[in-house]
Amino acid sequence: MVKVDLSGAQDFFDQSGPDFAAAASAHRTLCDGTGAGSEFTGWLELPHRIKDGELKSILSASEKIRNHSQALVVIGIGGSYLGARAAVELLSSPNYNLKDKDTPDIFFVGNGLSPDALAETVRLIGDRDFSINLISKSGTTLEPALAFRVFKELIIKKYGVSGARKRIFATTDKSRGVLKKIADAEGYETFEIPDDVGGRYSVLSAVGLLPMAVAGIDILKVVHSAIEEFHSLDLRSPENPAWQYAATRQHLYRQGKDIEILTYYDPSFRFMAEWWKQLFGESEGKNGIGIFPASTEFTADLHSMGQYIQDGPRRIMETVVSFQEFNTQFKIPFEMGNADGLNYLAGRDFGAVCRTVSQAVKAAHIAGGVPNITVEVPSKNEEGFAALVCFFELACAISGYISGVNPFDQPGVEAYKSNMFQLLGRP
Ligand code: PA5
Repeated sequence: MVKVDLSGAQDFFDQSGPDFAAAASAHRTLCDGTGAGSEFTGWLELPHRIKDGELKSILSASEKIRNHSQALVVIGIGGSYLGARAAVELLSSPNYNLKDKDTPDIFFVGNGLSPDALAETVRLIGDRDFSINLISKSGTTLEPALAFRVFKELIIKKYGVSGARKRIFATTDKSRGVLKKIADAEGYETFEIPDDVGGRYSVLSAVGLLPMAVAGIDILKVVHSAIEEFHSLDLRSPENPAWQYAATRQHLYRQGKDIEILTYYDPSFRFMAEWWKQLFGESEGKNGIGIFPASTEFTADLHSMGQYIQDGPRRIMETVVSFQEFNTQFKIPFEMGNADGLNYLAGRDFGAVCRTVSQAVKAAHIAGGVPNITVEVPSKNEEGFAALVCFFELACAISGYISGVNPFDQPGVEAYKSNMFQLLGRP
């Protein structure tokens, strides 16, 4: 289970402190299914449900893809994309495609409309064998639907209509939606996004698990760890880290800290932060309220955003995700002559230096008026990933209910879509 360290936030609490009674009540509302959006709380049961049967189909599809393809094109956006990419980058590498490996390269497309990015992916795939995993719950989202047109044409050109059918895997709504109809008509293998699971809470379904399995991630371990994690997080007490996080960020929000920066010290976490931003941003930012979720990568961003965090408007709280250990030890070399004066660090491990720097940064930011919440994760592996997903999903739902919003809808994203379709001339 992840641990939450609130020692860096306590000085910013008022006399009442975080409202654990509100967290308890929000947790009860969530589990009793009596809150707004309760028809979208299936993610709490997802790891349990998926272990029967569907996991086997996901594993066998991933075997097929790995045997027949040197590249997998994953087409999806938002909740149908960020979790899978986050897992691949965290558990393998942000340079996954550059690594020497026995699994296919993975290209994430359909998450924007840039023709440059699309053309480059087509060029990078070149004449390699590839498969497609199209992920869209609604099946009507413009970006992935357009990207699918492009890659469908390519795959049919390369393998013919029936060959292409065997290489297209669709992850979509069980029964409704355009994509399900297309997939059934064409005979694509399909995987289900359950009706009661919204996009941003779907990473532990086939949405995330199929691309993860193709990348060689042990999805059985992910699912079993998630089952254990949700079980541990059912704790109904202020010891529950999800309560601690949710109640504290809501308390700090009431003290005027309306921007939360999620911070990390390893580039492999970049897409976990993107996933987190969607989870909290789409769940909480509504009805004119909500903490603005941002992210920074340290130490890189200390040299760009550090000034603002230390010294800008005092509206920021910082949540640092800290893994107990890095996976690699890397010693700082000794240099004869010591021209750069850095021999006092020679022989020390980069990870140890990084941890010391993070303590220095934490103290400076707290002194500068930025409360710090630290989320401690035992290790950067399948268990750690599952723990973070379950922790943040539960904390997000509790936090949303504490603030009085429905954490499972996203009515605000429709506004731009209706303008967009009008301007694009949709009949
Ligand atoms: O969380 C959400 O609901 C959204 O981010 C969706 O996942 C995203 O818009 C993609 O939708 P769809 O899977 O229907 O293509």
